[in-house]
Amino acid sequence: MSSLRLNFKPLGAAPFRRVPGSRLSPTKPGSIRCAAAAPTKSYSITLLPGDGIGPEVISVARNVLVLTGATEGIEFKFQEMPVGGAALDLTGVPLPEETLAAAQQSDAVLLGAIGGYNWDKNEKHLKPETGLLQLREGLKVFANLRPATVLPQLVDASTLKREVAEGVDLMVVRELTGGIYFGKPRGFKTDRNGEEIGFNTEVYATSEIDRIARVAFETARKRHGKLCSVDKANVLEASMLWRKRVMAISLEYPDVELTHMYVDNAAMQLVRNPNQFDTIVTNNIFGDILSDEASMITGSIGMLPSASLGENGPGLFEPIHGSAPDIAGQDKANPLATVLSAAMLLKYGLGEAAAAERIETAVLDTLDRGFRTGDIYSTGYVLPFIHSSPSSLLPRWLKPCIFIYCNIQNLRPLILVLLQIFTSTVFFLITNDQQ
Ligand code: IPM
Ligand code: MG
Repeated sequence: MSSLRLNFKPLGAAPFRRVPGSRLSPTKPGSIRCAAAAPTKSYSITLLPGDGIGPEVISVARNVLVLTGATEGIEFKFQEMPVGGAALDLTGVPLPEETLAAAQQSDAVLLGAIGGYNWDKNEKHLKPETGLLQLREGLKVFANLRPATVLPQLVDASTLKREVAEGVDLMVVRELTGGIYFGKPRGFKTDRNGEEIGFNTEVYATSEIDRIARVAFETARKRHGKLCSVDKANVLEASMLWRKRVMAISLEYPDVELTHMYVDNAAMQLVRNPNQFDTIVTNNIFGDILSDEASMITGSIGMLPSASLGENGPGLFEPIHGSAPDIAGQDKANPLATVLSAAMLLKYGLGEAAAAERIETAVLDTLDRGFRTGDIYSTGYVLPFIHSSPSSLLPRWLKPCIFIYCNIQNLRPLILVLLQIFTSTVFFLITNDQQ
């Protein structure tokens, strides 16, 4: 991965300094051009690398976007901004105003991951996670699409038996800006007995349920026409309203088959027979939990992308995995969830379906060729080595030259050999895709 990062002229990352109280000066947008088709379209993308493995996976996804854009005649103007722990260290807040403003003004936002041991003990308003929630709220991205697909190449990486996992292809549509995550009242106080209590409120308004239900029905309609709404309507009032409204909206979608499931049962069914699901719609907290569970069916959380969309304005695209501080900076992270998030950015955020497909195909092809990161590795596959490779001995400028030369000359065999020596999985992925 690090080799990829070096392939292109740096964009001039944000010149932030830790100046508490002062305003940040946002970076000048940078752009990278790459060979092939002259760009006919241009999009501005805000990159939010964040913490832990975030910067590593974002740098891979950025290069993937650049290379894909080059072949599809699309130019990207990137602006990198701090969020989460990185922003806390730099500015004292997890979501600087400037970051939100840049995100709001761009065509799409690609986020790495946030959080880490350093900030775990911070007060709530100074936690990296708070920055992410503020970002989702600020961008008004209420609909979170989290696909979980068991790729044929990775069936054996699933923790479930092959016959249970094989063929799973589901989409969790998670409500993202409401429910217990944002509900008020919330906080800590002392109760009548003098005991400290912490409390939150699960609350949904009709309009919030209606709009996420419509997104879910539309999504199901484009997939296999089956929607399962997950709630806890046997106990929670907010879920009772949820079920009532989802049923009401279903009248607009007679072609979509609607079922309902309590969340405890859904959690069980997901590991019992995940193939029964096509599209799942659920509230913020159930969606958080079920999408992590669904990710394990696919073999690794390192594979799953997500798209968060609002009514208008830019979408927010992010891998569903966290910042994995234990492996940060070691080039061990699986970048594919972020690469696939970049594909979702193209498809759902910019309407560039052909470019998105190019990335998806390249990911599959890379897996087909046996390349794996540690999280999806099993015996017999190729685990790309980065730090131990002679790559680190090469001058930085040499790598892009090798890459461009191979592409121009269409030297696939040479690329394969060079790959073993110089580069990482995703480098392969792109070179392969370019031919
Ligand atoms: C996710 C994460 C976030 C969430 C955290 C980091 C705030 O778990 O995107 O699933 O709970 O939404
Ligand atoms: Mg989560």
